[in-house]
Amino acid sequence: LLSGPDARPLTGKRAVVTAGPTFEPIDPVRGLTNRSSGKQGYAIAAALAERGARVTLVSGPTGLATPVGVTRIEVETALEMQAATHAALPAHIAVLSAAVADWRVDTVAGGKIKKAPGGPPTLALIENPDILAGLAKPGPLRPALVIGFAAETTDLEANARAKLSRKGCDWIVGNDVSADVFGADGNTVLLVTKSGAEPWPRLSKAEVATRLADRIADHFG
Ligand code: CTP
Ligand code: CA
Repeated sequence: LLSGPDARPLTGKRAVVTAGPTFEPIDPVRGLTNRSSGKQGYAIAAALAERGARVTLVSGPTGLATPVGVTRIEVETALEMQAATHAALPAHIAVLSAAVADWRVDTVAGGKIKKAPGGPPTLALIENPDILAGLAKPGPLRPALVIGFAAETTDLEANARAKLSRKGCDWIVGNDVSADVFGADGNTVLLVTKSGAEPWPRLSKAEVATRLADRIADHFG
């Protein structure tokens, strides 16, 4: 851990971090979710808190412990995650690492859907709001530094760049998910900003978090 005058360079800064998957119910016993472990987002929340930031972690279902010094808000659905993220504003820093379900079931069944002679049910899906794009929109509550993630299996740099401009955020942490990432402890990322793309070596998720938190501190320093 750092010591000395610059040990807590983010003192006085507020941060909101999203992490983990969302869970979109189908009926009272079933739902749509994904393989995000939440590890990377939790590590980022911990690294920001260690540097003195006041961190709200808006988390989908994970089995992870709340990092020391972090306030965790537990959510299930994308709509709940969006509301909790907005409720955490104002903030100087937003790091949206959650794997938000792109779609939810349009009409959630009130009771358990039963097998029926007519065959399987058809699920009608509707698109969830883009929490990152909403947060990055210019306005009085826009955090000064908005960071998104891009999980890609091909064309990492081009896709990450396209997301940066489409969503209006400041940085994108491009994540190569063709290798082993979900639930793993290592991560290979490309940091994309308006001024360039910087490949990082394969690091542990904790190391990615400390590097990113140091970059954030430099940005405000
Ligand atoms: N994101 C979000 N809300 C959504 C979907 C994504 O806030 N409804 C955020 C993620 O947290 C991440 C970034 O947007 O920081 C990119 O997510 P990703 O799934 O890679 O992008 P999509 O725009 O959903 O594009 P696609 O899945 O089609 O590649
Ligand atoms: Ca998506």
